[in-house]
Amino acid sequence: MEERMVSAEEQGLEDSLDQRVRPHRLKQYIGQENVKKNLQVFMEAAKMREECLDHVLLYGPPGLGKTTLAGIIATEMGVQMRTTSGPAIERPGDLAAILSGLEPGDVLFIDEIHRLNRMVEEVLYPAMEDFCLDIVIGKGPTARSVRLELPPFTLVGATTRAGMLSAPLRDRFGVLARLEYYTEDDLAVIVSRTAEIFETVIEEEAAVEIARRSRGTPRIANRLLRRVRDFAQVKGDGTITLKLAKSSLEELQVDRLGLDHIDHKLLYGMIEKFRGGPVGLETISATIGEEPDTIEDVYEPYLLQIGFIQRTPRGRVVSPACYEHFKMEVLE
Ligand SMILES: Nc1ncnc2c1ncn2[C@@H]1O[C@H](COP(=O)(O)OP(=O)(O)OP(=O)(O)O)[C@@H](O)[C@H]1O
Ligand SMILES: [Mg+2]
Repeated sequence: MEERMVSAEEQGLEDSLDQRVRPHRLKQYIGQENVKKNLQVFMEAAKMREECLDHVLLYGPPGLGKTTLAGIIATEMGVQMRTTSGPAIERPGDLAAILSGLEPGDVLFIDEIHRLNRMVEEVLYPAMEDFCLDIVIGKGPTARSVRLELPPFTLVGATTRAGMLSAPLRDRFGVLARLEYYTEDDLAVIVSRTAEIFETVIEEEAAVEIARRSRGTPRIANRLLRRVRDFAQVKGDGTITLKLAKSSLEELQVDRLGLDHIDHKLLYGMIEKFRGGPVGLETISATIGEEPDTIEDVYEPYLLQIGFIQRTPRGRVVSPACYEHFKMEVLE
């Protein structure tokens, strides 16, 4: 989403910083108290019984910490994590190879699990339920099915679209954890923690300002912090003051509520071309030149959350609160 050219070296640097910024233990994972509290109990119980943790489905909008949490589960359970994703597993054999390579107790993390194809899903069912693989050997009339035992493992699935998971797959998860948008307070703590890792001095009010404009999302908070830190380095003395944070965020075209130019394009598009709606997703997509999936997964959830758009049976509608934010008259 970020329209910015980065050199390979810079990218490598950002990746390694990413590793340091990403929390590795549950106690470093800020917010999501409900999810944390429950997971802690389930993990402790599994450890006491010397079993592996039941399968966990993590769902919620992008950048809220699903991948991070999957890693934390593996670390806290003291096991290895194997990572793959729905679209990466093309054939049943690919999944069979991954599953038979697991060590007892391992976490298998499948990102974008809603994008698994049906044939692969069929292999997953007995694996999740009975820790076994049903393999067909041979072809035609002599074909026979063989059952292979698998080591017990924990499947952690992540998705931005729980609704797109098939019911039989969803039902096989023992733990369903829905991640929510973060509060401003939690995000301010995340910003301060990240600044500390960067060894950057930041005023508390500046951390709050960045938090306020991060759309409830840690990934955005950390990204804005990085860019504001660049401004502090070049335009200031390296310290992130409130004044500097505000002017940098202005330069970055992030408004008071954290809406960026794509949010603006989307909302203005709906207002100017469709008198605020109702208008269908496909039409919005064609108008502003963003993929429908991106709109639905990345942009819309937060706009719905803050009540700027509403979904109706006839399409999306811009709310009065949104007009108020832009100080425009409702066209009726
Ligand atoms: N609870 C948290 N406390 C501190 N930092 C967090 C927390 N959750 C996420 N982060 C930070 O936000 C970044 C994004 O999180 P992560 O990659 O886990 O999101 P995600 O939900 O997997 O997103 P996507 O749906 O795009 O895969 C991480 O690199 C991490 O540094
Ligand atoms: Mg992820």
